[in-house]
Amino acid sequence: MTSMNNNEELFNQAKNEIEKLWSDNKKLSDFVNWPNDLILKEKNTHKINVADKLSTWKSPNDNQVDKIHNLISNLSPHVHWENGYSENEVNREFLNKYGFFELIGPTGHFLTLEMALYVNFLDNNTHYPLHNHEAEELYFIVSGEAKFESEDEESKILKSTDTRFHKSYQAHSITTFDKKILSFVIWKNKFENVSKIVDPNNI
Ligand SMILES: [Fe+2]
Repeated sequence: MTSMNNNEELFNQAKNEIEKLWSDNKKLSDFVNWPNDLILKEKNTHKINVADKLSTWKSPNDNQVDKIHNLISNLSPHVHWENGYSENEVNREFLNKYGFFELIGPTGHFLTLEMALYVNFLDNNTHYPLHNHEAEELYFIVSGEAKFESEDEESKILKSTDTRFHKSYQAHSITTFDKKILSFVIWKNKFENVSKIVDPNNI
């Protein structure tokens, strides 16, 4: 088998497990329907600092979500990682501890115009500053934990399989302590516009 075929197999295994998760989890399926038109596209590999942090992080357990964690970890060296922000918006340390890739979406590894699913990694002892975006968003925690804070809402520590909804333009921030966190970030409606850091004094 060529390496491209191996990669295709990895991508499809991850997609199939996440599709099963969708049919088992009402929070996910109520937020947005699983797209039935997914097409795997050729997309360049792009490595950033967190790619190795995720590829070396495996779950020792065998639950559905642990299988997904390990499939995503295996995909890490083959995906197009992004930071999303520039050094003008956030500091260099943050850029070394944060990253995401668009697994599914309009510019994702799997193409669809129905939604976007980003795989989001945040290292331990990291603060992802307050930010917002037009898209409605659902976080689904795959593994690890973090404190989620959002405008007009109680802050909460989220762990594996927990979800949290952010309304359009509702500012939110994420803080990790001794654990890192791996999440799915699902966007629907108006997912063309990127996320922007916001000044806490201006909300
Ligand atoms: Fe967000």
